[in-house]
Amino acid sequence: MAKVLVIDDEANLRKVLAALLRRDGYEVTVAQDGAEGLVELEKSGADVVVTDLVMPKLGGMDVLKAVNATAPDVPVIIITAHGTVDSAVEAIKLGAFDYVTKPFDQTELSAAIAKAVRSHESARANARSDARGRAALVGDSPTMQEVLRIIDRVADTPSTVLITGESGTGKELVATALHEGSSRRNRPLIRINCAAIPKDLMESELFGYERGAFTGAVTSKPGRFELADGGTLFLDEIGEVPVEMQVKLLRALQESEFERVGGIKTTRVDVRLVAATNRDLAEDIEAGRFRKDLFYRLAVVPIVLPPLRDRTEDIPTLVRHFLQKYNRRLNKQIDGVEPEALAVLQAYAWPGNIRELENLIERVLLFADGPLIRLKDLPDSLRGPTATMPSAPLGSTPSSETGLKDIVRMRAAELEKDLITRALEETGGNVTRAAKLLQISRKSLQTKMKEFGLRGGEADE
Ligand SMILES: Nc1ncnc2c1ncn2[C@@H]1O[C@H](COP(=O)(O)OP(=O)(O)OP(=O)(O)O)[C@@H](O)[C@H]1O
Ligand SMILES: [Mg+2]
Repeated sequence: MAKVLVIDDEANLRKVLAALLRRDGYEVTVAQDGAEGLVELEKSGADVVVTDLVMPKLGGMDVLKAVNATAPDVPVIIITAHGTVDSAVEAIKLGAFDYVTKPFDQTELSAAIAKAVRSHESARANARSDARGRAALVGDSPTMQEVLRIIDRVADTPSTVLITGESGTGKELVATALHEGSSRRNRPLIRINCAAIPKDLMESELFGYERGAFTGAVTSKPGRFELADGGTLFLDEIGEVPVEMQVKLLRALQESEFERVGGIKTTRVDVRLVAATNRDLAEDIEAGRFRKDLFYRLAVVPIVLPPLRDRTEDIPTLVRHFLQKYNRRLNKQIDGVEPEALAVLQAYAWPGNIRELENLIERVLLFADGPLIRLKDLPDSLRGPTATMPSAPLGSTPSSETGLKDIVRMRAAELEKDLITRALEETGGNVTRAAKLLQISRKSLQTKMKEFGLRGGEADE
C-alpha cells in the first residue's frame, strides 16, 4: 500500500484529504506544518508528499526543496489557492511533480496522486537518475563525441530536437543537457511522458482546460505548454501520442498558439520543444500511426543515441563516471575495475543500455570491498556463455519495443531479487538491517520479499 504524507495547516482540509486518500486505498500520515511534515517524512517515510503552499513556520516551497535534497525520488504535489498559477509554475520549476488548485476537485486530486505513485514506483525500478543534478553526459566514442558537438551547437537555438534511441540510452539526459545549455536554463524544463497519459486526458494535459470544460473541471488549469512558457517542453515517448492529437500538436508547434480545452481564447507561448522516442517513427509513419508532417516538424535536429553494445568504447569512461557517482553516494572507496572484469563488461550486450550499466555498478559497489572490482564481484548472468544473448528469446536486438521493454523488466526483476537475496545473506536475514543496506523502507522490502518468495530470518520478526 502506497503511503501519502499530507501537510496542511488547516485542520478541516487535512481531515478531508486524509479521508479521501484512505478511501482511495492509501496509507495516510498527516502533519500540520512544513517542519512537522519533514520530521514525519524522516521518521516514517512516504511514497508521495502532498503539501499546502502557504503555512506558518515552513511553507510548501521549503518542503519541496527539502524533499528534493533528502528524498529526490519522492514526488511532491503542491496545493495552491485558485488563481496563483505563478507559484505553481515556480513549484514545477523547482521539481514539484504536479499541483492541484484549491478548492480541489476529488477526481483531479485522485488522478494526480495515482500518477505520482506510479512515477515513484517506476523511478525506483529505474534506479535513481540524476535528473536534478547536472546533466553529465560522458562518452569517448566518435558517436557520443558527435552527439556532444550537436548539443553544443543547437542548445541555445529555438529549433526542435528529436532524440531517438532504445530505452536507457540517455534520451532524457540529452534533453536536460539541451535545456541547461540554453539561455532558457533559468526557466522551467517541463517533461511530459506521453505514454503515461490516458488518451482522453492528453489534450487537457498539454493545453490546459477552462472551468466547466468537462465533468470534474471545477476550476480552470493551465496545461504543460503554458507552464513551460519561456522554457523547454520535453515530450517524452512522443510515438505514443494518438493520431488525433498529433494534428493539434502540430498546429501548436507551427503557430506557437493553442486554446485550452473548453476555451475560446487563443494562448501564445514561447516554448522550445524537445521530443524523444524509442520507437521507429519511420515504421510508424509507414503504418499510418504517425503523421509525416509532424515528424518533419519535430526532427529539425535529429539526435540518434546508439545502443551501448554499438559503442563499447564508452564503457570504461561510463564505469569510471558511475564509480565516482556511487562512491560518493554510498560512501565507498572503489578505485576501479580489474582488466578481466572490464573485459566482461565490454563483452556483455546491455539490453537495458546505460541504465542497466549504471544499476549494475551501484549494486556491485554496494557489496564490493575493493580497492578494485574483480571478476567474482560481477553477477553470473554477465559472465555465462549466454551473456551476450540475454535471457529473452528475442536475442540482443528485440524486434519491437515491447520486446525490449520486456527484457529490461525481466532483467530489472532478476537484478532486484539477486540484490535483496545478497542483502539478506549479508545481514543474516535481518529485514530491518537489510532494508537499511538497500536504502529502501522495511515495508517495501517486505513487499518485495513476498513478491519474490524470499524469507528473512526469525530474529527480526
Ligand atoms: N552518456 C551518459 N553519461 C552518463 N550517464 C548517462 C549517459 N547516458 C545515460 N546516462 C544515465 O543512464 C540512465 C538512463 O538515461 P535516461 O533516463 O536519459 O535514458 P532514456 O533514453 O530516457 O531511457 P527510457 O527510454 O527508458 O526513458 C540515467 O541515469 C542517465 O543519467
Ligand atoms: Mg527517458
